[in-house]
Amino acid sequence: MDLKGKVAVITGAAVRIGRSMALTLAESGADICIHYGSSKQEAEQTCHEIQCIGRNAFAVSADLANSKNAATEIIDAVISEFGKVDILINSASVFENKTLLNSSEHDWDSHLNINLKAPYFLSQQFAKAIHSGQRGHIINLVDWRARRAGVGHLPYRISKAGLVTLTECLALELAPEIQVNAIAPGAILPPPDQDASYLEKRAEHIPLKRAGSPDDICHALLYLLESDFVTGEVLTVTGGEQL
Ligand SMILES: NC(=O)c1ccc[n+]([C@@H]2O[C@H](COP(=O)([O-])OP(=O)(O)OC[C@H]3O[C@@H](n4cnc5c(N)ncnc54)[C@H](OP(=O)(O)O)[C@@H]3O)[C@@H](O)[C@H]2O)c1
Repeated sequence: MDLKGKVAVITGAAVRIGRSMALTLAESGADICIHYGSSKQEAEQTCHEIQCIGRNAFAVSADLANSKNAATEIIDAVISEFGKVDILINSASVFENKTLLNSSEHDWDSHLNINLKAPYFLSQQFAKAIHSGQRGHIINLVDWRARRAGVGHLPYRISKAGLVTLTECLALELAPEIQVNAIAPGAILPPPDQDASYLEKRAEHIPLKRAGSPDDICHALLYLLESDFVTGEVLTVTGGEQL
């Protein structure tokens, strides 16, 4: 897909990886809908930077915990602002270190609602908005640990495993009009409550001996969006950590 003049909606795009993806797509010629939850000021700043690049951008807030309503609000807002939508990137996420024994029903519901149910209903609204003859892309941000057993982050792992399955099933159901792929990042940015030493420790166990950066994710994103013959793929961007 040539990104010039395309419209992309990115969830959780005010800060961190979502913000980097938004700026990268704008630099490639796309207009952007920045979805955010609570980072209003950062969302407005990201829109401003996109407008400085010469592309259109606007911000929409919706609580993805209320996934079905949020999905309708977000896609309706994009259509009303730009008249169409070509690319959906599901990046917003919660990531909490809960085990079976210390997790609550709230932990289960928030991870499943925000990380899986919201992408499900956003994909549904997005697919309905794609008109006959139009091509579309859905990109889901998953995690290489999604399909690995491990202790900790249990509701998170389950939500991301579900998102991998959603990626593969929708690649079949929505072909040939819509390509559906996923990016599985490794150590890219520390969780908000950790500092850089979190990544330095992880890097010791990464074959390429470094943590990644949002730019590494943006390269993978551009590859998937510009590839016309790739669908149902989970592109692992980890420096080999999954090996
Ligand atoms: N960072 C990494 O190294 C890494 C590693 C593996 C996988 N990933 C995946 O890559 C993606 C991007 O990672 P990231 O670290 O940049 O993400 P993040 O900081 O964990 O989350 C991105 C945004 O999600 C939004 N969000 C969370 N709950 C929400 C809710 N209820 N309603 C609306 N928005 C909500 C927040 O937006 P507001 O700030 O506006 O509230 C948050 O800023 C995620 O899917 C993550 O799981 C990241």
